[in-house]
Amino acid sequence: MMGLRTLLLVSLFAALEPMLAAGSHRGRSMPGSPVNISREDRGLRRAVLAAAQFFNNQSNDAFLFKPSAVLGAQRQIIKGIRYFVDLEISRTVCRKRDDNNSNLSSCDLQPAGRLQQTIQCHTEVWVISWQNATRTQVFHCRA
Ligand SMILES: *[C@@H]1O[C@H](CO)[C@@H](O)[C@H](O)[C@H]1NC(C)=O
Ligand SMILES: *[C@@H]1O[C@H](CO)[C@@H](O)[C@H](O)[C@H]1NC(C)=O
Ligand SMILES: *[C@@H]1O[C@H](CO)[C@@H](O)[C@H](O)[C@H]1NC(C)=O
Ligand SMILES: *[C@@H]1O[C@H](CO)[C@@H](O)[C@H](O)[C@H]1NC(C)=O
Ligand SMILES: *[C@@H]1O[C@H](CO)[C@@H](O)[C@H](O)[C@H]1NC(C)=O
Repeated sequence: MMGLRTLLLVSLFAALEPMLAAGSHRGRSMPGSPVNISREDRGLRRAVLAAAQFFNNQSNDAFLFKPSAVLGAQRQIIKGIRYFVDLEISRTVCRKRDDNNSNLSSCDLQPAGRLQQTIQCHTEVWVISWQNATRTQVFHCRA
């Protein structure tokens, strides 16, 4: 009987180990509950940039917008990582129709004047790391 019990324990740990390892690898939070994260978080910056690209693809503006401030951010581990972000986006000097604008970070913001604009938005971005894919599922801005 002793042998069987040991075997069961061993196989239980064998099953748990990858889960524990994955949990600690991603941080000490409970899986499934959203937690506040730093505005400097690397994954967050990528997610925010992807959301801005999503916004630009949908907008009718002649210029590209880019993230200008992150007001608050949360991360939730569910089938990848979900980011919930309150942010500001601002109009840049890069025109959409120019093809040399692939790097949004290098687009300067509009100087003070008629074209200067900043909008407050909320976005939800799902990063599926094993598919190397980013999906912007929500992007709402204050009218
Ligand atoms: C832009 O939007 C179009 C139509 O909604 C979509 O087919 C295309 O994949 C989008 N491109 C990017 C880079 O999101
Ligand atoms: C998370 O951040 C929000 C503001 O963005 C704050 O109201 C809340 O108290 C924070 N929660 C924790 C657990 O720090
Ligand atoms: C992008 O192209 C436009 C028009 O072709 C040009 O006026 C602008 O200077 C270019 N910007 C950069 C950063 O090369
Ligand atoms: C985009 O531009 C920024 C600022 O100019 C630069 O730091 C960054 O390395 C560039 N990224 C790519 C992929 O070229
Ligand atoms: C993930 O995608 C990015 C940009 O789309 C690419 O630069 C990178 O090489 C990809 N990584 C993997 C592991 O496929």
